[in-house]
Amino acid sequence: MPSLCVFGAQWGDEGKGKIIDRLSADVDFVVRYQGGANAGHTVVVGDEKYVLHLVPSGILHPGKVNLIGPGVAVDPLTLLGEIEGLRSRGVSVDPSNLHLSAGAHVIFEHHKRIDSLSERWLGEGRIGTTGRGIGPCYADKAARTGVRVCDLIDPERLALRLRPALAEKNALLERVHEAEAFDVEVEIERYAAAGAALAGFVCDTGREVRSAYREGKTILFEGAQGMLLDIDAGTYPFVTSSNTGVAGVPAGAGVAPNQIDRVIGIAKAYCTRVGEGPFPSELSGADAEWLRSAGNEFGATTGRPRRCGWFDAVAARYTLELSGADTWVMTNLDVLSGREVVPVAVRYRRGDERWTEYPASAATLDGMEVEYDELAGWQEDITGVRSWDDLPATTRAYVEGVEERVGVPIGMLSVGPDRDQVIPRSARRPALNLVGGL
Ligand code: IMP
Repeated sequence: MPSLCVFGAQWGDEGKGKIIDRLSADVDFVVRYQGGANAGHTVVVGDEKYVLHLVPSGILHPGKVNLIGPGVAVDPLTLLGEIEGLRSRGVSVDPSNLHLSAGAHVIFEHHKRIDSLSERWLGEGRIGTTGRGIGPCYADKAARTGVRVCDLIDPERLALRLRPALAEKNALLERVHEAEAFDVEVEIERYAAAGAALAGFVCDTGREVRSAYREGKTILFEGAQGMLLDIDAGTYPFVTSSNTGVAGVPAGAGVAPNQIDRVIGIAKAYCTRVGEGPFPSELSGADAEWLRSAGNEFGATTGRPRRCGWFDAVAARYTLELSGADTWVMTNLDVLSGREVVPVAVRYRRGDERWTEYPASAATLDGMEVEYDELAGWQEDITGVRSWDDLPATTRAYVEGVEERVGVPIGMLSVGPDRDQVIPRSARRPALNLVGGL
């Protein structure tokens, strides 16, 4: 089983960190291929809780090689801080287990400042970004004014690329945003120091992963955010600036498309979204408060309260189909304990029109009503359950009901934050029972 892509099938925060951490035990390489420090992958190991923003989740397993691919937007100061933070907690991070692509683009302080300032101009149309400089960095990449890691670690090239780019951004900051400009030479020096500290980690990660694949090594491509935040497939413009699903892997990891053997989606037993944009099954009032508090739905990166709603089968069908996922993991199932009924969104409606397919445009979703099927809830605490047969009958019926409405088999359930709190359902796809019970 050489390679698999694990991606978020909703709006991010599906609990990918924990599942990827679990699957990492069975693979040789873990590769991040898109996004940046806007991600916050939470992994709980015993009493320890780790929140990883840029370092791939395989770092918590000794002996795994972790790659940050060319499609990632890397904030070098955040990355250095994260490496230090992990080391101070006894996790070994060095050039033998962490490699950074020379082709990845660099996020500078000015990207973050512009990210926040330009949101103010959008008024009602604001995206609610994480403020981590993601959009401005990818915009520079597309405009061919970006600075890559190979430039960052070469002081002359860094100065050559950053000096004119920052001069232009300073003009933008001062004249458009009426904000303070950066001292260009101070920034060059600051980032040259970061480049020097990271130089030992830098290599051609694409070549490394392609040859690992040829040698039959196992590779996990770790998605960040979720498919509904994908710049092409998501609810544009309320999206992030990268291809979050499997389509992002070839370019973002530097591999051939036929080097991705399996695709696994991750979705919660309900939905959440941070930031602005359409969310058809969103709840308000007491139900929203209940779900937010039961699921502790606050952002791992920004601490923002997440918007909460019921599971949306229309959206999940779309993202799993688009990604060619052959199975998926349902997370946070334990959070739903204590409800009399648990609604599942099955259709959208406006007037006499019905949608069973996810609409391509975010604007179509405006004012859309949702039709729900009401499934029976359960009262039992299921956090200690480890096998399918030990789950309450109503919980099993909920899982099977969702599975039927989505049309893609669920290979595993997650019933709590800890590594071990999972219920494998490998019997669903015996022929594909290849890693970590999936
Ligand atoms: P950006 O990626 O910071 O530009 O933010 C764009 C949109 O994606 C905003 O709605 C963010 O809240 C959302 N977003 C970005 N990263 C994550 C994530 O890791 N989890 C959930 N939402 C995210």
